[in-house]
Amino acid sequence: MLVSRRPHVRLSAIATAVLALEAAGCGTASSCPDPRPRTSDFVGAVKGPDLENAREDGETDADRCELACRVVAEEELDDIMKCEAVGPEADPEHPWAEGVDEITVTCTATYTPEQFCTGRRPQGHREAEIVVQSRADWFAVHAHLERAAVTAFRELAEWLDRQGAAASLVARCRDAAADEVRHADALDALARRDGADVPLPRADPPVDDLFAVACHNAVEGCVSEAFAAVVAAHQAGHARSLELRALFSRLAADELRHGQLAWDLHAWLWDRLTPAQRAAVAELQARALAGLPQSSRRAAAATPRELGWPGPDHAARMAELFADRLRAAAGLAA
Ligand SMILES: [Fe+2]
Ligand SMILES: [Fe+2]
Repeated sequence: MLVSRRPHVRLSAIATAVLALEAAGCGTASSCPDPRPRTSDFVGAVKGPDLENAREDGETDADRCELACRVVAEEELDDIMKCEAVGPEADPEHPWAEGVDEITVTCTATYTPEQFCTGRRPQGHREAEIVVQSRADWFAVHAHLERAAVTAFRELAEWLDRQGAAASLVARCRDAAADEVRHADALDALARRDGADVPLPRADPPVDDLFAVACHNAVEGCVSEAFAAVVAAHQAGHARSLELRALFSRLAADELRHGQLAWDLHAWLWDRLTPAQRAAVAELQARALAGLPQSSRRAAAATPRELGWPGPDHAARMAELFADRLRAAAGLAA
Protein backbone atom coordinates (compact mmCIF):
# COMPACT_ATOMS: atom_id res chain seq x y z
CA MET A 1 0.00 0.00 0.00
CA LEU A 2 1.30 3.37 -0.97
CA VAL A 3 -0.05 5.38 1.91
CA SER A 4 -0.43 4.48 5.54
CA ARG A 5 -2.19 7.47 7.05
CA ARG A 6 -4.95 9.98 6.46
CA PRO A 7 -3.58 12.72 4.17
CA HIS A 8 -3.33 16.12 5.80
CA VAL A 9 -1.92 18.77 3.49
CA ARG A 10 -1.44 22.52 3.99
CA LEU A 11 -0.98 23.70 0.44
CA SER A 12 0.13 27.30 1.00
CA ALA A 13 3.43 26.29 2.66
CA ILE A 14 4.19 23.91 -0.22
CA ALA A 15 3.36 26.58 -2.82
CA THR A 16 5.67 29.05 -1.07
CA ALA A 17 8.54 26.56 -1.04
CA VAL A 18 8.10 25.77 -4.75
CA LEU A 19 7.97 29.44 -5.71
CA ALA A 20 11.14 30.08 -3.71
CA LEU A 21 13.06 27.76 -6.04
CA GLU A 22 13.98 30.58 -8.36
CA ALA A 23 14.95 33.00 -5.61
CA ALA A 24 17.29 30.38 -4.19
CA GLY A 25 18.91 29.95 -7.62
CA CYS A 26 18.38 26.21 -7.40
CA GLY A 27 20.51 23.89 -9.59
CA THR A 28 20.02 22.85 -13.18
CA ALA A 29 18.13 20.17 -13.21
CA SER A 30 -3.93 14.61 -14.44
CA SER A 31 -2.26 17.02 -14.18
CA CYS A 32 -2.62 15.21 -17.31
CA PRO A 33 -1.50 11.71 -16.65
CA ASP A 34 -1.33 9.49 -19.70
CA PRO A 35 -1.83 11.99 -22.54
CA ARG A 36 -2.99 9.99 -25.53
CA PRO A 37 -0.73 9.89 -28.60
CA ARG A 38 -2.33 10.85 -31.91
CA THR A 39 -1.57 9.72 -35.44
CA SER A 40 -1.58 12.30 -38.23
CA ASP A 41 -0.54 12.76 -41.83
CA PHE A 42 1.79 15.66 -42.50
CA VAL A 43 2.68 17.17 -45.84
CA GLY A 44 4.76 20.20 -46.72
CA ALA A 45 7.76 21.72 -48.46
CA VAL A 46 11.23 21.57 -46.92
CA LYS A 47 13.89 23.94 -48.18
CA GLY A 48 16.86 26.11 -47.22
CA PRO A 49 18.75 25.27 -44.00
CA ASP A 50 16.12 22.67 -43.01
CA LEU A 51 16.74 20.73 -46.21
CA GLU A 52 20.48 21.18 -45.85
CA ASN A 53 20.38 19.81 -42.28
CA ALA A 54 18.26 16.81 -43.25
CA ARG A 55 20.60 16.03 -46.15
CA GLU A 56 23.74 16.23 -44.00
CA ASP A 57 22.51 14.78 -40.70
CA GLY A 58 20.72 11.71 -42.08
CA GLU A 59 22.87 8.68 -42.78
CA THR A 60 20.33 7.11 -45.12
CA ASP A 61 17.54 8.52 -47.27
CA ALA A 62 15.05 7.10 -44.73
CA ASP A 63 16.80 9.07 -41.95
CA ARG A 64 16.75 12.21 -44.08
CA CYS A 65 13.05 11.79 -44.78
CA GLU A 66 12.35 11.43 -41.04
CA LEU A 67 14.29 14.61 -40.26
CA ALA A 68 12.35 16.45 -42.97
CA CYS A 69 9.09 15.03 -41.62
CA ARG A 70 9.89 16.52 -38.20
CA VAL A 71 10.30 19.92 -39.86
CA VAL A 72 6.97 19.66 -41.67
CA ALA A 73 5.09 18.35 -38.63
CA GLU A 74 6.17 21.17 -36.28
CA GLU A 75 5.47 18.70 -33.46
CA GLU A 76 7.67 16.60 -31.20
CA LEU A 77 7.05 13.32 -33.04
CA ASP A 78 7.13 10.00 -31.19
CA ASP A 79 7.18 7.59 -34.10
CA ILE A 80 7.29 8.06 -37.87
CA MET A 81 5.53 5.18 -39.60
CA LYS A 82 5.64 6.27 -43.23
CA CYS A 83 7.69 8.91 -45.03
CA GLU A 84 8.10 9.89 -48.65
CA ALA A 85 10.21 12.70 -50.13
CA VAL A 86 9.73 13.98 -53.67
CA GLY A 87 12.25 16.17 -55.48
CA PRO A 88 11.53 19.00 -57.93
CA GLU A 89 9.47 18.44 -61.08
CA ALA A 90 12.56 17.97 -63.23
CA ASP A 91 13.90 15.14 -61.03
CA PRO A 92 11.28 13.94 -58.51
CA GLU A 93 13.09 10.64 -57.86
CA HIS A 94 16.20 12.25 -56.34
CA PRO A 95 15.13 14.62 -53.60
CA TRP A 96 18.43 14.32 -51.74
CA ALA A 97 20.70 15.11 -54.69
CA GLU A 98 23.15 18.02 -54.27
CA GLY A 99 21.74 21.24 -55.69
CA VAL A 100 18.09 20.39 -55.01
CA ASP A 101 16.73 23.39 -53.10
CA GLU A 102 13.18 22.33 -52.28
CA ILE A 103 11.43 19.01 -51.73
CA THR A 104 7.95 17.88 -50.73
CA VAL A 105 7.61 15.51 -47.79
CA THR A 106 4.56 13.40 -46.99
CA CYS A 107 4.63 11.39 -43.76
CA THR A 108 2.47 9.65 -41.18
CA ALA A 109 3.56 9.89 -37.56
CA THR A 110 2.40 9.70 -33.97
CA TYR A 111 2.89 12.51 -31.48
CA THR A 112 1.69 13.35 -28.00
CA PRO A 113 -0.05 16.72 -28.04
CA GLU A 114 0.70 19.14 -25.22
CA GLN A 115 -2.01 19.35 -22.61
CA PHE A 116 -2.39 21.99 -19.99
CA CYS A 117 -2.82 20.07 -16.78
CA THR A 118 -3.35 23.11 -14.67
CA GLY A 119 -6.95 23.23 -13.57
CA ARG A 120 -9.88 21.07 -12.57
CA ARG A 121 -11.64 19.29 -15.41
CA PRO A 122 -15.07 17.83 -14.60
CA GLN A 123 -15.61 14.08 -14.67
CA GLY A 124 -16.12 12.90 -18.26
CA HIS A 125 -14.48 16.03 -19.73
CA ARG A 126 -13.84 15.79 -23.46
CA GLU A 127 -10.59 17.47 -24.38
CA ALA A 128 -10.98 20.29 -26.92
CA GLU A 129 -8.81 20.16 -30.01
CA ILE A 130 -6.89 23.41 -29.75
CA VAL A 131 -3.31 23.58 -30.97
CA VAL A 132 -1.47 26.33 -29.13
CA GLN A 133 0.58 28.40 -31.55
CA SER A 134 -0.03 31.87 -30.20
CA ARG A 135 -0.97 33.84 -27.13
CA ALA A 136 -4.58 33.96 -28.41
CA ASP A 137 -4.67 30.14 -28.57
CA TRP A 138 -3.26 29.91 -25.05
CA PHE A 139 -5.98 32.21 -23.72
CA ALA A 140 -8.59 30.17 -25.62
CA VAL A 141 -7.40 26.87 -24.11
CA HIS A 142 -7.36 28.31 -20.62
CA ALA A 143 -10.71 30.10 -20.96
CA HIS A 144 -12.10 26.74 -22.09
CA LEU A 145 -10.56 24.92 -19.10
CA GLU A 146 -11.73 27.58 -16.63
CA ARG A 147 -15.27 27.20 -18.02
CA ALA A 148 -14.95 23.43 -17.60
CA ALA A 149 -13.93 23.99 -13.97
CA VAL A 150 -17.21 25.83 -13.33
CA THR A 151 -19.05 22.62 -14.19
CA ALA A 152 -16.64 20.56 -12.10
CA PHE A 153 -17.34 22.59 -8.95
CA ARG A 154 -21.10 22.83 -9.52
CA GLU A 155 -21.28 19.06 -9.92
CA LEU A 156 -19.15 18.58 -6.84
CA ALA A 157 -21.32 20.92 -4.75
CA GLU A 158 -24.49 19.09 -5.81
CA TRP A 159 -22.94 15.70 -5.17
CA LEU A 160 -21.65 16.67 -1.71
CA ASP A 161 -25.05 18.10 -0.84
CA ARG A 162 -26.70 14.79 -1.77
CA GLN A 163 -24.14 12.95 0.34
CA GLY A 164 -25.02 15.03 3.37
CA ALA A 165 -21.60 16.66 3.59
CA ALA A 166 -21.09 19.66 5.87
CA ALA A 167 -22.71 22.81 4.54
CA SER A 168 -19.34 24.58 4.75
CA LEU A 169 -17.75 22.10 2.31
CA VAL A 170 -20.65 22.50 -0.14
CA ALA A 171 -20.44 26.29 0.17
CA ARG A 172 -16.71 26.26 -0.58
CA CYS A 173 -17.42 24.35 -3.82
CA ARG A 174 -20.13 26.85 -4.79
CA ASP A 175 -17.77 29.76 -4.06
CA ALA A 176 -15.10 28.05 -6.17
CA ALA A 177 -17.58 27.68 -9.07
CA ALA A 178 -18.24 31.44 -8.85
CA ASP A 179 -14.46 32.07 -8.91
CA GLU A 180 -14.14 29.89 -12.01
CA VAL A 181 -16.88 31.90 -13.77
CA ARG A 182 -14.79 35.05 -13.21
CA HIS A 183 -11.61 33.30 -14.42
CA ALA A 184 -13.36 31.99 -17.52
CA ASP A 185 -14.88 35.40 -18.34
CA ALA A 186 -11.52 37.17 -17.94
CA LEU A 187 -9.59 34.71 -20.12
CA ASP A 188 -12.44 34.53 -22.62
CA ALA A 189 -12.27 38.30 -23.06
CA LEU A 190 -8.49 38.15 -23.60
CA ALA A 191 -8.83 35.32 -26.14
CA ARG A 192 -11.50 37.18 -28.09
CA ARG A 193 -9.55 40.44 -27.96
CA ASP A 194 -6.68 38.56 -29.60
CA GLY A 195 -9.03 37.11 -32.23
CA ALA A 196 -9.50 33.54 -30.94
CA ASP A 197 -12.74 31.63 -30.47
CA VAL A 198 -13.26 29.72 -27.25
CA PRO A 199 -14.92 26.31 -27.63
CA LEU A 200 -17.53 25.45 -25.01
CA PRO A 201 -16.54 22.55 -22.77
CA ARG A 202 -18.22 19.19 -23.36
CA ALA A 203 -18.40 16.35 -20.88
CA ASP A 204 -20.16 13.05 -20.36
CA PRO A 205 -22.40 12.88 -17.28
CA PRO A 206 -20.46 12.44 -14.02
CA VAL A 207 -20.35 9.07 -12.27
CA ASP A 208 -22.39 9.23 -9.08
CA ASP A 209 -20.10 7.11 -6.95
CA LEU A 210 -17.90 8.05 -4.00
CA PHE A 211 -14.89 6.09 -5.22
CA ALA A 212 -15.12 7.70 -8.70
CA VAL A 213 -15.33 11.17 -7.12
CA ALA A 214 -12.34 10.37 -4.88
CA CYS A 215 -10.25 9.19 -7.85
CA HIS A 216 -11.17 12.27 -9.84
CA ASN A 217 -10.51 14.73 -7.02
CA ALA A 218 -7.21 13.06 -6.11
CA VAL A 219 -5.83 13.91 -9.56
CA GLU A 220 -7.76 16.88 -10.95
CA GLY A 221 -8.03 18.75 -7.67
CA CYS A 222 -5.11 17.65 -5.49
CA VAL A 223 -2.54 17.58 -8.30
CA SER A 224 -3.66 19.59 -11.36
CA GLU A 225 -5.51 22.39 -9.69
CA ALA A 226 -3.11 22.64 -6.77
CA PHE A 227 -0.17 22.98 -9.17
CA ALA A 228 -2.19 25.53 -11.18
CA ALA A 229 -2.09 27.74 -8.11
CA VAL A 230 1.72 27.61 -8.05
CA VAL A 231 2.04 28.31 -11.77
CA ALA A 232 -0.42 31.20 -11.60
CA ALA A 233 1.64 32.70 -8.75
CA HIS A 234 4.72 32.43 -10.95
CA GLN A 235 2.84 34.15 -13.77
CA ALA A 236 1.75 36.89 -11.38
CA GLY A 237 5.40 37.74 -10.84
CA HIS A 238 6.72 37.19 -14.37
CA ALA A 239 4.05 38.01 -16.99
CA ARG A 240 5.21 40.83 -19.22
CA SER A 241 2.23 43.16 -18.89
CA LEU A 242 0.85 44.71 -15.72
CA GLU A 243 -2.66 43.74 -16.84
CA LEU A 244 -1.70 40.05 -16.92
CA ARG A 245 0.27 40.22 -13.67
CA ALA A 246 -2.79 41.60 -11.91
CA LEU A 247 -5.04 38.94 -13.45
CA PHE A 248 -2.73 36.03 -12.58
CA SER A 249 -2.32 37.38 -9.07
CA ARG A 250 -6.11 37.13 -8.55
CA LEU A 251 -6.17 33.70 -10.16
CA ALA A 252 -3.31 32.45 -8.00
CA ALA A 253 -5.08 33.41 -4.76
CA ASP A 254 -8.30 31.73 -5.91
CA GLU A 255 -6.56 28.59 -7.19
CA LEU A 256 -4.65 28.20 -3.92
CA ARG A 257 -8.02 28.10 -2.12
CA HIS A 258 -9.31 25.59 -4.67
CA GLY A 259 -6.24 23.41 -4.26
CA GLN A 260 -6.65 23.47 -0.48
CA LEU A 261 -10.33 22.64 -0.93
CA ALA A 262 -9.30 19.63 -3.05
CA TRP A 263 -7.03 18.34 -0.26
CA ASP A 264 -9.66 18.95 2.43
CA LEU A 265 -12.18 17.12 0.28
CA HIS A 266 -9.62 14.35 -0.25
CA ALA A 267 -9.43 13.86 3.53
CA TRP A 268 -13.25 13.83 3.78
CA LEU A 269 -13.50 11.23 1.01
CA TRP A 270 -10.62 9.23 2.50
CA ASP A 271 -12.62 8.60 5.67
CA ARG A 272 -15.38 7.02 3.56
CA LEU A 273 -13.24 4.73 1.38
CA THR A 274 -12.42 1.10 2.02
CA PRO A 275 -8.73 0.19 2.56
CA ALA A 276 -8.55 -1.23 -0.98
CA GLN A 277 -10.09 1.93 -2.43
CA ARG A 278 -7.66 4.10 -0.46
CA ALA A 279 -4.76 2.16 -1.91
CA ALA A 280 -6.15 2.59 -5.44
CA VAL A 281 -6.69 6.34 -4.98
CA ALA A 282 -3.20 6.76 -3.52
CA GLU A 283 -1.68 4.89 -6.45
CA LEU A 284 -3.55 7.03 -8.97
CA GLN A 285 -2.43 10.18 -7.19
CA ALA A 286 1.16 8.99 -7.00
CA ARG A 287 1.10 8.34 -10.75
CA ALA A 288 -0.27 11.81 -11.43
CA LEU A 289 2.48 13.35 -9.28
CA ALA A 290 5.13 11.29 -11.05
CA GLY A 291 3.88 12.52 -14.43
CA LEU A 292 3.65 16.17 -13.37
CA PRO A 293 7.25 17.22 -14.20
CA GLN A 294 7.00 15.93 -17.75
CA SER A 295 3.55 17.37 -18.43
CA SER A 296 4.65 20.69 -16.94
CA ARG A 297 7.73 20.75 -19.15
CA ARG A 298 5.52 20.22 -22.22
CA ALA A 299 3.02 22.86 -21.16
CA ALA A 300 5.83 25.34 -20.48
CA ALA A 301 7.31 24.70 -23.92
CA ALA A 302 3.94 25.43 -25.51
CA THR A 303 3.33 28.66 -23.57
CA PRO A 304 4.38 32.02 -25.03
CA ARG A 305 7.09 33.43 -22.70
CA GLU A 306 5.31 36.77 -22.28
CA LEU A 307 2.65 35.01 -20.18
CA GLY A 308 5.07 34.43 -17.32
CA TRP A 309 5.16 30.65 -17.18
CA PRO A 310 8.50 29.27 -16.02
CA GLY A 311 10.68 27.89 -18.82
CA PRO A 312 10.46 24.13 -19.51
CA ASP A 313 13.39 23.11 -17.24
CA HIS A 314 12.29 25.37 -14.44
CA ALA A 315 8.67 24.19 -14.73
CA ALA A 316 9.85 20.58 -14.45
CA ARG A 317 11.94 21.40 -11.37
CA MET A 318 9.03 23.22 -9.74
CA ALA A 319 6.79 20.23 -10.44
CA GLU A 320 9.39 17.84 -8.99
CA LEU A 321 9.68 19.82 -5.78
CA PHE A 322 5.91 20.26 -5.59
CA ALA A 323 5.43 16.50 -6.02
CA ASP A 324 8.10 15.71 -3.41
CA ARG A 325 6.53 18.03 -0.84
CA LEU A 326 3.04 16.74 -1.49
CA ARG A 327 4.19 13.12 -1.24
CA ALA A 328 5.82 13.88 2.08
CA ALA A 329 2.79 15.77 3.40
CA ALA A 330 0.29 13.14 2.24
CA GLY A 331 2.39 10.14 3.25
CA LEU A 332 2.63 8.88 -0.33
CA ALA A 333 5.45 6.70 -1.56
CA ALA A 334 7.51 8.06 -4.49
FE1 LIG B 1 -9.61 28.81 -12.25
FE1 LIG C 1 -9.68 26.49 -9.84
